[in-house]
Amino acid sequence: MKILMDEVTSNIMTELEKTQKSFWNIPRETGIMINMFIKMMNAKSVLEIGTSNGYSGLWIAKALKETGGHLTTIEFYEKRQCVAIENFKICGVFDIITPIQGSACDIIERFSEEEKFDFVFIDANKREYVKYFELIKPHLTPKAFIAADNIISHAEKVQTFIDAVDRDDEFQYEILKLPGGLLTAYRNSKS
Ligand SMILES: C[S@@+](CC[C@H](N)C(=O)[O-])C[C@H]1O[C@@H](n2cnc3c(N)ncnc32)[C@H](O)[C@@H]1O
Repeated sequence: MKILMDEVTSNIMTELEKTQKSFWNIPRETGIMINMFIKMMNAKSVLEIGTSNGYSGLWIAKALKETGGHLTTIEFYEKRQCVAIENFKICGVFDIITPIQGSACDIIERFSEEEKFDFVFIDANKREYVKYFELIKPHLTPKAFIAADNIISHAEKVQTFIDAVDRDDEFQYEILKLPGGLLTAYRNSKS
């Protein structure tokens, strides 16, 4: 069986896929993988960096509806965030989403110490990936999972991020050859 999606969400996703290039959305295959990862690890608290019009957020939120989790998603541009919120409402997932508008680094820096995530999806400014990685580390649960898009398509811009993950003994990682390239990293820590 392929993934089950309600008719309204399925229709919205098909519509969003028509404007994928304008909104820099992840490919459908990546959305499906992220949706499966979240369900497989029973993630409860997800952070997304780079909401755009909410396409990837829908894949995440639909998985979280099954795990009973929550999504916090950050977007710099208010207009895009408004479109995303509309899509989240139409698809019946807005009740489990906290959209935050602003610069990702500033926002993560302001998270309280208690704010923890067991899954983080990185898909914003490619040159800032390494900063996101350093900033989110104190907010990860011991067995957290990170997925980051455009690792192959924007290889040069994200190299510092790959190097940082590679140097970090707490993380086991692999780059999946999905369109764009998806880095997946598993934190295997006791604390
Ligand atoms: C590749 S798109 C995200 C696509 C989305 N994840 C999806 O697949 O539907 C990147 C988004 O990140 C936003 N962005 C870029 N730099 C940002 C920053 N420093 N803080 C917050 N958002 C940022 C952009 O405005 C853009 O909408």
